[in-house]
Amino acid sequence: MRIGAIELPNRLFVAPMAGVTDRPFRQLCKRLGAGYAVSEMVTSRKDLWSSLKTSRRANHDGETAPIAVQIAGTDAAMMAEAAAYNIDRGAQIIDINMGCPAKKVCNKWAGSALMQDEPLALAIIEAVVAACAPRGVPVTLKMRSGWCARERNAVALARAAESAGVAMVAVHGRTREQGYTGAAEYDTIAAVKAAIAIPVAANGDIDSPAKAAQVLERTGADAVMIGRAAQGRPWIFGDIAHYLATGRHRSAPQVREVKTWLVEHLHDHYALYGEFAGVRTARKHIGWAVRALPGGEAFRARMNTIENCEQQLAAVSDWFDALGERHPRLPATTGCIEPLLEAA
Ligand SMILES: Cc1cc2nc3c(=O)[nH]c(=O)nc-3n(C[C@H](O)[C@H](O)[C@H](O)COP(=O)(O)O)c2cc1C
Repeated sequence: MRIGAIELPNRLFVAPMAGVTDRPFRQLCKRLGAGYAVSEMVTSRKDLWSSLKTSRRANHDGETAPIAVQIAGTDAAMMAEAAAYNIDRGAQIIDINMGCPAKKVCNKWAGSALMQDEPLALAIIEAVVAACAPRGVPVTLKMRSGWCARERNAVALARAAESAGVAMVAVHGRTREQGYTGAAEYDTIAAVKAAIAIPVAANGDIDSPAKAAQVLERTGADAVMIGRAAQGRPWIFGDIAHYLATGRHRSAPQVREVKTWLVEHLHDHYALYGEFAGVRTARKHIGWAVRALPGGEAFRARMNTIENCEQQLAAVSDWFDALGERHPRLPATTGCIEPLLEAA
């Protein structure tokens, strides 16, 4: 699996998720089996680049290659500048966000709204490729299946993107109009794969190794991209890799392993955000890790009242130690995936 000249270790991708796929989470997913992870989106608005939020997002210290940064915006020249800015800060791949209902940038809707305006979408793609190609940086595109049910224009846009020099497309099998409702469909992703020669990643509602295998088979896609199912369960990438290689499910991880991964993630998280913000933003990751486990909801409520890192770490450690005494391996859980509506 390659993106441009960059060879990836496998075809299991972490989907970009604002507020989730920060550097510590991407690193954790890569360590536990993901071959590729895209950053949270970075705005093309220059006036925000020095903000704490954007500068954290553009910080890749110690990140395992390849470093992929998603940019969002509605103006071709600003997007090209954003690409160059992020390349100067370590990005090795630039991903254009036409996949999520991003906020308004300069009074226009960015993200998947661009799918409604193909000439503008193409102008952005061409400008970003022109900024990246001389630096040897491949450009990828994340999009939805189309604007609305009657206008599933992913195939047309993917063809145009390929001609403009894009190196890979990821398609979320929902239309923009669907927002975060309904189920993802994979026929449009299969049509995109059939229409272009560059690699295609299939995205949407993949929540188990069996589902990943089905989606790969049904779409012919080169890779699967996973978002919500990795929240609190970053080892899903290793589970999928094992299933694709052997056709068998591997055992659930040991509770003590899960505890070690979470504690290491928390240390990394606090190092990036500092104590005050870190303890608060870590709550969602801890919540996702425990929510479906026996006693997880009660622990989540108690943990949300803790306001310092040391106590948060100790509470997490103690809770997993107690769970491990009853269940050496993580008990089976179902219904882990959050409804998209609630999540984004
Ligand atoms: C909390 C959250 C934040 C997201 N942020 C982004 C983003 O910044 N850029 C983007 O292209 N997609 C974003 N998405 C969409 C995901 O990348 C993905 O397309 C979507 O979650 C469907 O995949 P899944 O079913 O595996 O979660 C976000 C989704 C969630 C749940």
